[in-house]
Parts: sequence; structure tokens; C-alpha cells
Amino acid sequence: MYPFSVDRNYVRDSWYVAALSSEVSDNPVDRRILGDLVLLYRDSNGDPVALSGLCPHRRLPLRLGKRVGDNVQCGYHGITFDTGGNCVSVPTQEKPSERLSLHKYPVAERWKWIWIWTGDPADADPNLIPDHREMGLEGDWEATPPEYYHVAARSQMLIENLLDLSHISFLHGDYIEDAAWYETPVTIERDGDRCVASRHTPSSRSSDFHRWMFPDAPDLVGQDLRTVFLGPALTYSGPVVREAAANGSNGRYLGTMYAAHAITPETPRSSHYFSTTTRDFRTDDAAMSEELHTMDIAVRNQDLVALAAIEAELHREDSLPPEVSVKADNPALYVRRMIEDRLRAQPA
Ligand code: FES
Ligand SMILES: [Fe+2]
Repeated sequence: MYPFSVDRNYVRDSWYVAALSSEVSDNPVDRRILGDLVLLYRDSNGDPVALSGLCPHRRLPLRLGKRVGDNVQCGYHGITFDTGGNCVSVPTQEKPSERLSLHKYPVAERWKWIWIWTGDPADADPNLIPDHREMGLEGDWEATPPEYYHVAARSQMLIENLLDLSHISFLHGDYIEDAAWYETPVTIERDGDRCVASRHTPSSRSSDFHRWMFPDAPDLVGQDLRTVFLGPALTYSGPVVREAAANGSNGRYLGTMYAAHAITPETPRSSHYFSTTTRDFRTDDAAMSEELHTMDIAVRNQDLVALAAIEAELHREDSLPPEVSVKADNPALYVRRMIEDRLRAQPA
């Protein structure tokens, strides 16, 4: 299915963000993740639990059941499961049945996100969850409140949107206008499963956006506009800004602002999107945080409208004109191949 030439929709051996921490409470809720319904709640210790969301008896979604202590009782015939997914009671018979069990997803809570492992639980290694400090989370940077968006488009389109930030000046031109972001050639560096796309400008005229970030910004700034792809579940992007380089040395460091994007496939044609923005400057400026949060929501929604409009055309994939790429698409195409390799490597 577009954009892959392999007939598999999801990279399963991965941690993905399933929900915001604030979305998961004592009351079970569910969310469709990689095609499957996943039930999410917290046990009496406050630890998150993720189980398959359909009762294996007659497949009623378990969100329609109720909590009984730490267990979940199906709302149809009362079969009850513990936090390990084991059946502990079948009201119509003396003994529970081992054949009635739920898949238990390994879970980890990091920053304000709940991650689940969608591959074989035996392979779930929490060390594979990217270090959140790298993008300014769980440290002393400032982060805007975490947001959740439902995206009516396949996850790969969202990933590729982030690998080509030349779109910022056009799709988001009302908020951020900086010609350096599309005029500067992009370079790609790969390191194992991660890939960095960057546009480096040693000296260019500071934009309104730079002056908004740094009111004392000089006329000339140097910047790296980076997108760091950490795998199908997480990408972060943004500018690292300095005073313009002079006499062969880097100018004074001004600051870094990143947007962190956690992307989780819902179905082959829709996704969950969790985002926040971080910065290491003016960290105690509440008014700036508020403005940034508002702007970020507006910008994300512009992406979502564009991607949903494209997705709406893709159902007639066989009769669509072929996609034509330009040089700036190289990082997106590179990451497309990285993910395609992972899809090919996993069992059908
Ligand atoms: S469908 Fe859940 S107990 Fe029957
Ligand atoms: Fe965008």
C-alpha cells in the first residue's frame, strides 16, 4: 500500500505512544492501535495496564464492561480478566478457562506519554524507547502541554511531512516565514536506525520568527533546521539558532526549539498524533509558552487538513497519476526505504 511496495501496513516490533498519561485513569478506555482495539486503564497502584480490547468470548469491546477491583469484567456475560489478561472468572461455570485470555501489552510511562510495545512481548525492551531528554523532555527544558490529534491519514505521510520542512513557509506561512528553510539544500546523515535531515545556514537575515523567539536577535543569524527521525514512532524537529558565524567561528548560541512528534498508526489509513514543543531559552516565560502552544495547535491542524485531503484521494490508488519527487524529498524517500526494509524483515 502507498507509499510502500510491500503489502504490510505496520512496523510491529516497536514501542509506540498509545495515549497521553492524562487520558488513562481508573475507568477503562480503548483506542485502536495498529488495527487492534487496546483497552487502557490504571490499576490500584496507578500503574497503566494495556490489554486487548475485545472479549474473546463473543467479542464485545471491553470498554463496555466494568472494573471489579483491578480486574475487568465484560459487560455481556460477565467473564472477568486480571491485569495480566488471564481469565479469572466465568460466571456460568465453576472454573475459569485458560482459552479465554487477553493479550497483555508491555507498557512504560515516560514524560506525559504512555508507551506500549506492539511486537512479541518477549522482545519488549524499555531501553528501546528513545531517550526523551534528547528532544528536551524529562529535563530542565520547558515543554508546552502535550496534545493529541486524530489524523485521517496514514502514518507514513505524517512522518514524511516532518522530513521535508520546506513546507513550513508555504503550508504554515501565516505563522512562520523564513526562506532559508526552503532555499538551503538539505543533507542526510544516518546512524543505525536513526536519520537526521538538516539545513545549515551559517548566516542569513533573521526572520520575524527569530525575533519572536529571541527579541534581542541580531540582524544575521546562523541556524541548523533539523529533523531527527528516531524510528516509525517518534521524530523531532526544529531550529538550533546562533548569532551568524563570523571569522570562521560559530556565533554566540541563542537557543533551540523542538517539536516532538509521536506517531502511532490507528488503521492503514489513519493515525494518532501526540505532540509538544520544547525550548531551552526563556524557559520561565509563561506568556511565550502560551503563545507557542496556541501556534503549535494551529500549525498541526494545517498539516492535518492537508494530509487528510491527500488521503481522501488515495483510495483510488490504481488510477492516480504517479507521484513525482524533487530534490527536497530525499530525506523523506530515504526514511521511506528505511521503514520499508523493516516491513520486509518482519514475518508476513
Ligand atoms: S462477550 Fe464477553 S463475556 Fe460474553
Ligand atoms: Fe507542518
